[in-house]
Amino acid sequence: MVDLCLLNCKLPPKNIECSIAIENGKIVSINKIAPKCDETIDLEGKIVLPGLIDAHVHMRDPGLTHKENWKTGSMAAAAGGFTTVLDMPNTIPETNTPRAFREKLEIAREKSVVDFGLHASVEDPGEIQAISKLKPASFKVFMDTVGNGPLMEVFREVSSEIYEDHNETPNSKLKSKKPLISLHCEDKNITAHCTKSMMLKGEKPEIYADARPSIAEVVAVSSALAMAEYFNFPVHVCHVSTRKALELINRARSHGCKVTAEATPHHLFLDSGYLRKFGNLAKTNPPLRNRENNISIDDLPKIDIIGTDHAPHTIHEKKQNVWNAPSGIPGLETVLPLILTEINQGRLSFSQLERLLCQNPAKIFNIENKGFIKEGMDADFVVVDMKKEGVINPDKFHSKAHYSPFEGFKVKGKAVMTIVRGNVVMDDDEVFPNKGHFIYG
Ligand code: DOR
Ligand code: ZN
Ligand code: ZN
Repeated sequence: MVDLCLLNCKLPPKNIECSIAIENGKIVSINKIAPKCDETIDLEGKIVLPGLIDAHVHMRDPGLTHKENWKTGSMAAAAGGFTTVLDMPNTIPETNTPRAFREKLEIAREKSVVDFGLHASVEDPGEIQAISKLKPASFKVFMDTVGNGPLMEVFREVSSEIYEDHNETPNSKLKSKKPLISLHCEDKNITAHCTKSMMLKGEKPEIYADARPSIAEVVAVSSALAMAEYFNFPVHVCHVSTRKALELINRARSHGCKVTAEATPHHLFLDSGYLRKFGNLAKTNPPLRNRENNISIDDLPKIDIIGTDHAPHTIHEKKQNVWNAPSGIPGLETVLPLILTEINQGRLSFSQLERLLCQNPAKIFNIENKGFIKEGMDADFVVVDMKKEGVINPDKFHSKAHYSPFEGFKVKGKAVMTIVRGNVVMDDDEVFPNKGHFIYG
């Protein structure tokens, strides 16, 4: 007798109907005929995908909970089809000490309805070893605020042999992989220089793209690749926005550099014209680019993962002038309908979706037991209705941030149920209480 069976599931790409049996939060069998079980959910032939993993979210908790908190942010994740999120360290306090890391862990354990990991940042490289023991998803460096000198120290420390010796004993099963380095790639000097000169030119939101030009990303990515090669250490480039940077990354990769590339839905689907249309609601770092420089869904074969960079702010903050309004776009509740719409129109496939939003995030960030629908894996799923049509409406978001530059987009395809380790956390837009687990715990 198993705990739960999902009946009449269609698993892409073959779409053969099957039943998935779940026990103790794990997938125990995938068969045509369901075994005896305590409970069943009939999915009536709907598509079932692995629960989505977002490697790049800002839950704003602790310290910035007027923008979002672990409860509202993780409810947005569940509503959007995500079963795991990796949170960024730019909270108050920053997640850059063992104490801050533990404090955030406790809050997330208390409030998150989906599973989670935490990225750390670095203030004192001397603390990297101690933070590593707590298993951060990565060490994140914002190159728009940190120069190449301190970045080099992070590479030196994280990649060092000494640090490896301080891992578990060589034969221990617990011997963990080192956390990688993930980077916000915009050059500090170029962004500061260009922002200063653009500030003299007024307050129209569309001038923001020139305050942080494409070359700032290209220069930062070049430095990041040079360090990854020099220290022979893996680096993950967050939110690549320009085709040129993507080209550099793929060229370095073909020469053996350990680098992975992430793209956001807003850089894939929008361009700088949306700054004119939506004003500061479309303000984000790196900025949306003009069409010549912008990445698009045609570039997805060269991209490893989609991360939403869910970066909520209050409408009040966003209503300030372009130089004072904070940058960031909420993304957890819009990416899946946008991608499903592309699949419905034949421009993307379920295999691409699973590669970018499930399998690769699990592989890159060493998330065991997630990202795939297979026996033995966590029973994390998103069920989608490919026929459901609608319009993106930020008023309906579970996030505290009720704005989006995707407002009004017509979409076809929607998450109708999200399941975390066998627990239904979202059914038909309603989100239910659940205790999310620390994925590296
Ligand atoms: O637009 C952005 N917003 N880019 C970042 O790198 C940070 C983020 C935030 O935290 O608001
Ligand atoms: Zn960033
Ligand atoms: Zn971010």
